[in-house]
Amino acid sequence: MTFLRACALSDLQEDVPKRVDLNGVPVSVVRTDEGVFAINDICSHANVSLSEGEVEDCMIECWLHGSSFDLRTGKPSGLPATKPVAVYPVKIEGDDVLVSVNQES
Ligand code: FES
Repeated sequence: MTFLRACALSDLQEDVPKRVDLNGVPVSVVRTDEGVFAINDICSHANVSLSEGEVEDCMIECWLHGSSFDLRTGKPSGLPATKPVAVYPVKIEGDDVLVSVNQES
């Protein structure tokens, strides 16, 4: 599994998503009181950037139609989205936030 540097931990404000591009994959990195999570930045319902939405209780809300996705699992909590969004493993090394966007486990 290859981890790429996404950003500095000190750049992340709690519950404020940061969009990064990792090998062409748009990723939203979010620091919460449960840890740091990385989720694909595109809503599973339409082509909308999740990092423009709000985060609360480890859920990121799509601003367009209001589905929220669990940052731990990528699963939507309710309609209109029905499919999960990919989530990615995160490692913290010093002040570096590292994310693995390759799909093989
Ligand atoms: S585009 Fe995200 S819920 Fe519709």
